Order: sequence, then C-alpha cells, then structure tokens
Amino acid sequence: GYLKELLGLTSIENQLKEKLKIDKVIVVPGDSDESPLVKDEIGKGVAKVLAKLIKDQDVLAVTGGSTVAAIPDQIPKMSRDITVVPSRGALGERVEMQSNTIAAALANKMGGKYKMLHAPDNLSKAALTSIIEDPKIASVLKAIKDANILIHGIGDAGVMAQRRSTSPDVLEKLNENEAVAEAFGYYFDSQGNTVHQEEIIGLKLKDLQEISTIIAVAGGRTKAKAIEAVALNHRQHILVTDEGAAMEILK
Ligand code: G3H
Repeated sequence: GYLKELLGLTSIENQLKEKLKIDKVIVVPGDSDESPLVKDEIGKGVAKVLAKLIKDQDVLAVTGGSTVAAIPDQIPKMSRDITVVPSRGALGERVEMQSNTIAAALANKMGGKYKMLHAPDNLSKAALTSIIEDPKIASVLKAIKDANILIHGIGDAGVMAQRRSTSPDVLEKLNENEAVAEAFGYYFDSQGNTVHQEEIIGLKLKDLQEISTIIAVAGGRTKAKAIEAVALNHRQHILVTDEGAAMEILK
C-alpha cells in the first residue's frame, strides 16, 4: 500500500527477493529484537498471505518458536476444511512455543482440524524407532508428509541451542562446524550445509521438496545470518521478516 511505499519497505522487499532468491518477501516495520510487538506484525503478514493462499483440503504443517506462535492471534476467525499438523516433536521448547500448541491454536482460528504429535523429548533412538510404529503416531507422520503448506521459524544456532538446553557434545559439534542457523530441528552452517539434526520424529529436510508452499517467518537484526543461510540453500517460497533483519541482510 501507499504507507509501505512511503516507508520504502517495498523497495527493501524487492532487494531481498533478489538477494535471497525468494519469490515473495514481506517486510514489516520494526525489529523483533527490540519489541515483541513486531512478531505480531509478522503474524499479520502471514495472515494476509494465508488468506489468499488457503484452499479446502489443505494440510498445513507448523514448526514451533515464538514467531510462529504469534500467528494464530492475527488470523481472523474462519471456517475452512483444512488440517493443521505440527512439523516435528517438541524439541525441548516451552509449551507455548511448541508446534503442537501452535497447530491446535491455528486450526481453531481457521475452523479446521488438527492432529497432535505426542512424542516426548529426549527419547533414545530405539524408543523413537518403536514410537513411529504406533498407528496414531504413524497417521500424524503421514499427514506431515502430505502437508502442502509449511510455516517455519528460523533461529540463530547459538540462541536455539541454549534455549533447548543442548548437551555439551552437541554444542561442541555446532561450534566446531560453525553452525549459524536452526530451522525445523536442523542446524546449518553459513553455506546451508546440515551440521546437526535433532533426534526427533516428524518433518525431514528431504520432505521439503514435496511441499508446494514453504513460508519462513523470522525477524530481528540478530537473525540476519541465520535467515541468509537457510534462505540461500533451502526451498522457500515466501519469507515474512522485519526491517531489522532485512536491513542487516542487505548491508
Ligand atoms: O527454528 C527456529 C526457531 O523455532 C525460531 O524461534 O521464532 O522463537 O526465534 P523464534
């Protein structure tokens, strides 16, 4: 709109689109690092995108994180025949920020159904292997594989590792391999190479190839490197970010 043009955000969006090679970029005013209200603006941006995009029978997968968690409140009440699923297990985050919680909140706003992935954190590989055979879990995992829209956050590797109380040996691995970014339970270096993958069931990196619309949401100046690493190397169709991150990426 007019105001956006006035603020120069449209030009920033176009520059980012080119630099990150993403089809659609939305930049909201402000910096998420400085005010939590900016995440609500990012949420509004996603609401606009979804309003245009969503069709009956869609399956939406959502990750956890505080940015994705800000989306449901910004979605107007509607009544759509859709299903919302969490992308992965809980990853040691607070309940408010877990993908299960966000998936349920989003489904309620959109009038759709949801499926929950009840897989506890920190399970052994053997336990995970047996859990995925449980019919209920298997049906959620299938829905995740069938998702045609994914909404995911992007985090700074160090911040995420600390927030999830990552073990010292994994921290060392992240350090040694210069991890800068985290998204959907994977850690990446600045070239977008996978450095580490959390042992949890759900969406896998290779599943991204099958998803027709991938929406990344991340703002704040301190996430610039992380956004770049993930955006340059993994499929994303839409990025909703803020001015703080955008200006730092374009520096
Ligand atoms: O995977 C990335 C994180 O979930 C991002 O979390 O939105 O709270 O920074 P955040």
